[in-house]
Amino acid sequence: MARITVFGAGYVGLVTAACLAELGNEVAVRDVVPAKIERLRGGEVPIFEPGLEELLAKNRERLTFTLDAAEAVEGTEFIFVCVDTPPLYSGDADLSRVWTVVDELPRVNGNPILILKSTVPVGTGEKVRAVLDQRGLTHVGYASNPEFTAEGRAVQDFLHPDRVVIGAFDPTDAERVAELYANVDGPVVQMDVPSAEMVKLASNAFLMTRISFINEIANVCEATGADVVRVAEGVGLDHRLGPHFLRAGVGWGGSCFPKDSLALKQLAANSGYHFQLLNAVIEVNELQKRRVIGKLQRHLGRLRDKEIALLGLAFKAGTDDTREAPSLVLASRLMAEGANLRVWDPIVDGEQLLPQATKCATVQEAVRGADAAVIVTEWRELRDLARPEIRELMARPLIIDGRNLLDPNETRSAGFAYEGMGRPVSLMDVLPETAEREPELEA
Ligand code: UDX
Repeated sequence: MARITVFGAGYVGLVTAACLAELGNEVAVRDVVPAKIERLRGGEVPIFEPGLEELLAKNRERLTFTLDAAEAVEGTEFIFVCVDTPPLYSGDADLSRVWTVVDELPRVNGNPILILKSTVPVGTGEKVRAVLDQRGLTHVGYASNPEFTAEGRAVQDFLHPDRVVIGAFDPTDAERVAELYANVDGPVVQMDVPSAEMVKLASNAFLMTRISFINEIANVCEATGADVVRVAEGVGLDHRLGPHFLRAGVGWGGSCFPKDSLALKQLAANSGYHFQLLNAVIEVNELQKRRVIGKLQRHLGRLRDKEIALLGLAFKAGTDDTREAPSLVLASRLMAEGANLRVWDPIVDGEQLLPQATKCATVQEAVRGADAAVIVTEWRELRDLARPEIRELMARPLIIDGRNLLDPNETRSAGFAYEGMGRPVSLMDVLPETAEREPELEA
């Protein structure tokens, strides 16, 4: 059992704290936002992450929440830094919150280790080490321990990781951090600090590359009559390629990929290297988020005054996170085209996010009178969307499936016009009203 401090009570910090407490440690969580600490002290969890609330409740006795940094580090052996590193205008990661923790780290006794979980550019660890030394904190160790958990399954990922990466300047520090993970179900890999920092950036960039790649294959499938879902299945069976991250759709979003892609692009550029492939991966994604608009226009002509149901706002299912969500780009493009939006999401508060849209409490309400229903997030609740009740509620029975969630044949048999991403288009998908709308197109 160790005494641990966690700086930052966001997605990463709270999951780290809850899981380390579950492993038997005493954890003090420090954040600078009073309302957040208040709620956590009262047993409330300010974010939605499956299993987190239960884990925090179960380990209540081993967890404390405070605004006071000095109190948080009292007697601590490990100091996890889990603050966010959003992009600056330049695309570089904003490390100001990391520096605040390092610069204001209270005097501590013993030999605690500062462990950086936040995603940072390669070279950050060396700079942090230098600042700690300048501040006379040579007795404080340093380790890079990047976060690989995905939202919606973060607790599971923390306790059963594919790997735990630890980069340290001193082998003893690496060993001590590795001990913390002795009871998690996954291999621990030790390496130098810059390499550990790069593992995180490279892993995310590789995952984004796979998605942009399959999205481009999807676009070629659309042009040639192949079905990307079948293609991904066939490709994924090659053991050298594997089946993961080959789901074509509306593009990647979220709190990590967009910012980490920019951070790596900028890190390379700052070092004099033009990362051509990564630039293409980012550009493909930007275009992919807009492809649904073209599909809607093909079916509906001009989108002015059309009623569009946007189903799902979160950047993926299983989370309430809408950071860099494709839904936001889609919504603003649709509004720019003059469409009226009816939005539904089982968790996200659409009212706050998109005040100009009509927020709907149920899928039925969202599709009532709609000219098209667009699946933006792969929520379980949408799997049976193609049912008669929905068709009857809609002004036109058109489903654009941005996540390839539905079976095209079943959906068409149920009387809908259907378009997925990278799937063959059927002649049946031409809505009967198309002829009427042609003059409008020419207008
Ligand atoms: C990601 C990484 O998986 C995780 O290791 C890292 O620590 C943080 O970033 P997260 O952003 O929570 O996690 O979600 P993830 O499940 O990886 O999905 C990222 C984005 O890619 C989502 O927008 C998702 O919809 C999209 N995606 C994922 C696809 O479009 N197709 C796929 O096949 C997989």
